[in-house]
Order: sequence, then C-alpha cells, then structure tokens
Amino acid sequence: MYLLIPAAGSGRRMGSDRNKLLLTLHNQPLLAWTLLAADAATEITWIGVIGQPYDFEDFQRIINELAITKPVELIPGGKTRQISVSNGLESLPPTAARVLIHDGARCLATPHLFNNCAQALQTCQGLIAAIPVKDTIKIVDQEHFILDTPDRSQLWAAQTPQGFEVELLRACHRRGRQEGWEVTDDAALLEKCDIPVKIVPGEETNLKITTSMDLAIANFILSQRH
Ligand code: CTP
Ligand code: MG
Repeated sequence: MYLLIPAAGSGRRMGSDRNKLLLTLHNQPLLAWTLLAADAATEITWIGVIGQPYDFEDFQRIINELAITKPVELIPGGKTRQISVSNGLESLPPTAARVLIHDGARCLATPHLFNNCAQALQTCQGLIAAIPVKDTIKIVDQEHFILDTPDRSQLWAAQTPQGFEVELLRACHRRGRQEGWEVTDDAALLEKCDIPVKIVPGEETNLKITTSMDLAIANFILSQRH
C-alpha cells in the first residue's frame, strides 16, 4: 500500500515560527513519530512526504536519522492541504492503484491503524478512520444562538488515514478544482461527488496536533507508551 503524508503546513494555530511537524515531541520531531509508525506498518510499502521545499533539508535529515526501511519520496506541497494532496497524487508511482493519506500532524497513529485501513481498502473505494463524537454538538447561527442539536449517535469525528482508489481520488480532486470546492479532508470530495465512503474504527489517541495543549497531551500519551 502506498502512503502519502501531507506535511506542508505552517502550524499557524500552534503559534510557532516554523512547521509544527519540526517541533520536538518526546525527544523526536513530530514528523519522526508519524514516519516510525508508517515504517512499522507491514502493509505500507512506499511513503511520500509532501512538504514545502524549504523544509526538505530537515525532512531528509529526519528520514536518514531514523533509517527508514521503505522508499521515501519528498514531494513539493501547495498553499492548502487540498493542493498538497493533489500534488502528492500526481507524484505517485504508476503502479499505485490505492493510496492511504495520513496527516503528518496525527503523529500518534499506530502501525495497527495503518494496517487495518490498508486491509479494509481492499474491499471498498474509499474509507476514513473515525471515532464516535463524545460531546453534544450544537449548530449555531452568526449571533451564536443555537439552531439545532444533531442526534449524537450519527456523529463521528473524522481522522486520517483516509484511503481511496487512486484514479477515483484524482478524478474527485480534478472536479473539486473545476467547481472551486474547498474542503479540509479528502473524503469530503468523494461525498460531493456522491461516492460512498466507509468509516473504519479510528483510535482515540490518534489526535491531530494543532495547539500547544495537544502537544502536551501527546507527550503524556507517548510517555505512557514507552
Ligand atoms: N498541510 C499540507 N499543506 C498545506 C497545509 C497543511 O500538507 N498547505 C498538512 C499539515 O502539514 C498537516 C495536515 O495537512 O499535517 C493537517 O493540517 P493542519 O493540522 O491544519 O496543519 P497546519 O496547516 O500546519 O496548521 P495550521 O492550520 O494551524 O496552520
Ligand atoms: Mg491548516
């Protein structure tokens, strides 16, 4: 299974002056944890890391120091995650029929989760890891008055990995560009094209590192693991 890791962000909400994936978490750069899990996942055979070219030197050093056993390619990212993934899709080897996409910022995903998603993708066109929402969610208007309380049993929080047939995802990205759709994950493009996407069980610890509080929680989770 081919794996693309979007890692071309800037970490604006972290308030850091560099890509948050280069920040240190439990003695390793964030990106290193993502790469180690991907390298340990037996189903993954090829890794593409999508980054801004100014980060490539640091990325390459991390890859070398970890002695990643699988082929790793660095792919230039774009201004948005959507463009970064689209660039990644164009850089896949021609033999890639299916692909998993996993945000570098979800650096606590386990090899087990990668393997599960890769296996489940053999029997469907598109899938995402997700977990049931624990909070009661409110839909509010612009003045912050509640409009509705959706039934929680139908609400799931989307994670990555997200997996797709490569040609299908390429076609959905093309359509998204033509129609000007702006989305924050790849499943949303398939949804807009009326293509079914399956949910597979994610992991509660597979959090996305967005703020410094997430970094503190991730630090704690890793200290419990090691
Ligand atoms: N990403 C990307 N290309 C972009 C923007 C984001 O590849 N132009 C990646 C990030 O590196 C991250 C993932 O997409 O691994 C999810 O994005 P997010 O958590 O929003 O990271 P950032 O965009 O870096 O953070 P922020 O939005 O706070 O600036
Ligand atoms: Mg972002």
